[in-house]
Amino acid sequence: MTTILVLNGPNLGRLGTREPEVYGSETLDDIAAAVEASVPGADVEFRQTDDEAELIGWIHEAVDRKLPVVLNPAAFTHYSYALRDAAAQLKQAGVPLVEVHLSNPHTREAFRHTSVISGVATGVIAGFGADSYRLAVDWIQRSRG
Ligand code: DQA
Repeated sequence: MTTILVLNGPNLGRLGTREPEVYGSETLDDIAAAVEASVPGADVEFRQTDDEAELIGWIHEAVDRKLPVVLNPAAFTHYSYALRDAAAQLKQAGVPLVEVHLSNPHTREAFRHTSVISGVATGVIAGFGADSYRLAVDWIQRSRG
């Protein structure tokens, strides 16, 4: 069975009440349940942290365990070179990384138009709400055959 790490960065634990007009009214637990149900053949490990070091540690774990990653880096997307350097190790190891966003950052403030992660990601899915995650895990599962 494929194990997929679904990693979430800062403030995503506040979904449900955080800017629902942008991010919807589902909580991260709701999204986790929907994602897990959508890939019954995979073992989905869904995690969230507000801490950059913890998130980087999880990426290192994925490199070492060769586990495919779905990553919503949240605001770290736009400025964390440390997270990008960690993600580059996934690319080096040939481990898939799908960057996801609930919203489409390109339709929002200018500072959100830059992702320092995309350049080392296998692909990017943005703007489909919780479906961004479902599309990502579906692709990982199908690409693993
Ligand atoms: C986000 C978009 C980011 O710009 C923002 O900082 C987030 C969430 C998204 O899922 O749409 O926290 O990654």
